Amino acid sequence: MQELHEGSEAPPNFPATDLMASSPTVVADLTDEHYLDAANFEWPLLRTEQQTEVAADSVVAAPPEDIPQSVDAEPVIGPTGRPWPDLPTPPLLTEHGPALIIAMCNQKGGVGKTTTTINLGAALAELGRHVLLVDFDPQGSLSVGLGVNPHTLSASIYNLLLSRDTSIDDVIDETNVPGLDILPSNIDLSAAEIQLVSEVAREQTLVRLLEAVRSRYDVILIDCAPSLGLLTINALTAADRVIMPLECEFFALRGIALLTDTIAKVQDRLNPSLEILGILGTMYDPRTLHSREVLERVVEAFGEQVFHTVIRRTVKFPETTVAGEPITTYAPTSPGAEAYRTLAREVLLRCRVA
Ligand SMILES: Nc1ncnc2c1ncn2[C@@H]1O[C@H](COP(=O)(O)OP(=O)(O)OP(=O)(O)O)[C@@H](O)[C@H]1O
Ligand SMILES: [Mg+2]
Repeated sequence: MQELHEGSEAPPNFPATDLMASSPTVVADLTDEHYLDAANFEWPLLRTEQQTEVAADSVVAAPPEDIPQSVDAEPVIGPTGRPWPDLPTPPLLTEHGPALIIAMCNQKGGVGKTTTTINLGAALAELGRHVLLVDFDPQGSLSVGLGVNPHTLSASIYNLLLSRDTSIDDVIDETNVPGLDILPSNIDLSAAEIQLVSEVAREQTLVRLLEAVRSRYDVILIDCAPSLGLLTINALTAADRVIMPLECEFFALRGIALLTDTIAKVQDRLNPSLEILGILGTMYDPRTLHSREVLERVVEAFGEQVFHTVIRRTVKFPETTVAGEPITTYAPTSPGAEAYRTLAREVLLRCRVA
């Protein structure tokens, strides 16, 4: 696959070097100095890296709504070690749009970008928001995760990016969740990364496409590929906000400096209004010292940028991919579904779209 993955060299003939040389592009160079190497961190508790006796339900990943938030009572401490905030259910909207565009971005693979895009999108739709999910990863996992067969698409986002004959309405599909639409993709999109290089204003291709539908939606979520190539730069150029999912494991922070550096370059050169909305801890296991230690380290490094909501590790999420639906419909009362509903409220509060 012709993508620059974290820590990998560009394969022969990959145009990324041309791309970097030919314009003040923000495609970042993947040098070691950009990495916040986990080996250089102090992991004070790492020496005793064994499972502790903490019961699974004694640490709250997202305190349920019925936990009293009274001023007299001791504040409830959330999983990030900070007092749990009041996250009210926002009122329904009377009119829709223009959409706030949020990119789900981390060049590290398998951290929960796609899972978060699908389930945050579904939870926002439950709150009455009109949501468009953009599958901007040639792996097409978002499409598969919502029951779309990427091999049988008559048109995908690839056609929109590279041909003027395709209308965005021909590509947008409804999902089984009311209010949740998808712009699907498949492996064809990997060719776009190369073909876009010779286009005029290549970094703005996606934002031009989304402009046509922005007024119809309240939130547009873009699921990025695990790369910082031209597709991800397009996503960051189109976005108002970025969410960075981080898996609560040892190498979580590796590459985050490169990602924040890339976001800063996009802010400087292409999209001054881009902001980091938050860092989301995913695959958190409160029973392990390791998971808690990583989360503590992430909060130490990023403070209030870290979402209070944390997504626990549960086998339900891989199951939802097989079922082709969000966890909010597959297992509506599960803690995983509740966690994404809580995240949706926190996201709306942070965006002040509520
Ligand atoms: N909270 C969770 N608990 C358990 N498994 C999870 C959780 N979140 C995601 N997963 C599983 O981990 C795998 C990777 O998740 P996902 O595809 O969302 O990551 P990604 O960052 O989009 O990956 P990629 O970089 O390849 O696009 C999937 O099999 C998914 O079902
Ligand atoms: Mg993905």
